[in-house]
Amino acid sequence: MKVFVVLSTLMVAASATYCYRNVNEICSKSHHSSDVPLKNCNATYGHFDKIHSELEQYANVQIEASFKYLLMSSYFGNFMSNRDGFKGFYRKLSDQAWDDAKDLINFITQRGGNMNFNDEAKFWSDDDEKVLQIKDNLSEFDSMSNVLDNYKKLADEALKIHAETAKHTEADGSVAHYLEERFFNRQAKTVHTLAGYVNDLKRFFSAPDASLAVFLFDEYLQTSM
Ligand SMILES: *[C@@H]1O[C@H](CO)[C@@H](O)[C@H](O)[C@H]1NC(C)=O
Ligand SMILES: *[C@@H]1O[C@H](CO)[C@@H](O)[C@H](O)[C@H]1NC(C)=O
Repeated sequence: MKVFVVLSTLMVAASATYCYRNVNEICSKSHHSSDVPLKNCNATYGHFDKIHSELEQYANVQIEASFKYLLMSSYFGNFMSNRDGFKGFYRKLSDQAWDDAKDLINFITQRGGNMNFNDEAKFWSDDDEKVLQIKDNLSEFDSMSNVLDNYKKLADEALKIHAETAKHTEADGSVAHYLEERFFNRQAKTVHTLAGYVNDLKRFFSAPDASLAVFLFDEYLQTSM
């Protein structure tokens, strides 16, 4: 019985997660060695490890989205299309997605995680990939609907990650709070704006003089930014 108690105490000691203990181990050695790992001396706490990969994927997907919107922006800005309103609007979305990615990476590293740029988002279905992939001859109407779908998919995903944090009994409230602060308000607004634009464009495209209507809509986009 006594042996068992001693053994189990030892095991607890070995598996304890104190950084202080790691440091003590080093200091108790006769000469200090820098290659002893400080296993417990990282910035991870709470349940961040359980949500880390989702956030990483979310950062990667924002980078992808940023490039996608940038491509659209340059397509509508070229001399053939010459749609400065669309160009500027997509550029703004691209810059925002880029800033979001940077901010997410910053948040992840602050919480002691590292960022793996190869952690691909797993929430895109084959259909999503096929339908939402951009082609280089998109009309204004096509492109706006494509961006709406894309944007909504990402907004949905933020909500899912948020719900995921609540699933763990000791929920990681700081992740939930971060998502609320950084994404929810702006995503709701942008989705609303995009849906409005798609419906405006539908009306314009069915007008007798569609090209004039789209020209005017482009002017409107320029002034609304
Ligand atoms: C980080 O430190 C905790 C103790 O605070 C430990 O349980 C965990 O295994 C460490 N993580 C890594 C990746 O070493
Ligand atoms: C773009 O090109 C593809 C194939 O080249 C064609 O199937 C599609 O209808 C075109 N879309 C527009 C909007 O012109």
